[in-house]
Order: sequence, then C-alpha cells, then structure tokens
Amino acid sequence: MIEFHEGLKDVADLGLRLVQHESEFLELFKRVHAIQPKTYVQIGSFQGACEIVLSRACAPGATIISVDNGTEGRKGEPRIPAIAKAHEFLQLKGFNMCFVEGDSSKDINIRTVNILLGRMKPDFVYIDGGHKFQQTMDDWNHYPADKLVAIHDINKKCGKNVDTPRAWRLIMDLDERETEEIILHVENGGVGLIYG
Ligand SMILES: C[S@@+](CC[C@H](N)C(=O)[O-])C[C@H]1O[C@@H](n2cnc3c(N)ncnc32)[C@H](O)[C@@H]1O
Repeated sequence: MIEFHEGLKDVADLGLRLVQHESEFLELFKRVHAIQPKTYVQIGSFQGACEIVLSRACAPGATIISVDNGTEGRKGEPRIPAIAKAHEFLQLKGFNMCFVEGDSSKDINIRTVNILLGRMKPDFVYIDGGHKFQQTMDDWNHYPADKLVAIHDINKKCGKNVDTPRAWRLIMDLDERETEEIILHVENGGVGLIYG
C-alpha cells in the first residue's frame, strides 16, 4: 500500500519514532483503510507517529484525537513537543487534530474526549497507552468505537511488565463481537481487533 509507506516516510522525515512492528502495523492499516474512519481516537500517542501513518487510512479531514500523559520514557525521548509537531503536520493536511494531555483513565479526560467527539462514538480507537491490566481494561471500557477497536501488545511474549495479553484474553472471552489477532512476530507486539 503506497499510502502506508508514504506515512512511514513522513514519520522519518519529521524525525519521529513509531513503536510498532512494520508488518503488523501494515495489516492494521489495511483494516482501518477499509472503514475510512471520520473519527479516530489514539490512546497512547508517544510521538504522534501512529496518527501520522493511520491518518492516511482515514477519511479526508477526519477528526483525530490523541490522549497521552506525556511522562518521560526510559530513553528520555520527548513526547509532548513531538506530538505537537505531528499534530501541526496533520493539521496542515486538513485533519481536525485534538490533543488531550493526561491520564486516559481520569474522568476529566474521558469527558473531554467525549465532548470533542460531540458525544458520538468514534469510528476507530487504537489503544496503546498504559500496558498494565487495569489500564488496558479501563481504556477498553472508556473508549468504545462504532466500527473498530484495536489494542496493541497482545502477544503473549510481551515483557513481564506488560499485562495487555491477559486483558485481551478477558476481552475476547467477555465480548461477543467478531475479533481478530494480528501476530506476525515471535517477540512482543501483536494487535487485537474488535469489530462493530
Ligand atoms: C507504547 S507508547 C505508544 C506508542 C505509539 N502508539 C507508537 O506506536 O508510536 C505508550 C504511550 O502511552 C502513554 N501512556 C502511558 N500510560 C498512560 C495513561 N495512563 N494515560 C495516557 N497515556 C499513557 C505513554 O506516555 C506513552 O507515550
């Protein structure tokens, strides 16, 4: 898909880093492209790179809302200035960009996202914020989508501090909707999808 590779080039040109396995992210891109979301919520933005690539799978002028608490990572890479750079880039391309700085499980931030969405469910949500069990479950419960929810790091081989695989198994057990797993690497990563 040309748009996908153009998106990766944009990320590189802006000097940003994407924390996804490229082959798995391409498969996610195809699923998102099939629904052409008009509204997309990214939980866990890091440097805004997901938004840059996935914007190319969205409808023109889509509303893209990112939530990130902006805490400094182990490698000391900047989050907020990088997200601002990514959002400015996408704003100039005609997208309606909104950034909510804070903890995605805090009531005030959930309400802010709701207001930004005009109290409608977004078409697409990508959950890749806090990777503890409760944080993943909270994001899953607080940010429902109309067409597609994706959850990153569902691979059982994710590190010992990552509980997303356990949360994902529970979600699959509890939710009766169609699910899909994209796991193309032996180590970490993996994307869980819930449709409709
Ligand atoms: C794995 S990184 C996201 C990677 C990004 N999606 C990408 O592919 O480039 C996780 C991000 O979630 C943010 N985060 C962690 N816990 C959070 C929370 N409770 N609320 C909001 N953001 C959180 C971190 O600051 C970090 O930027």
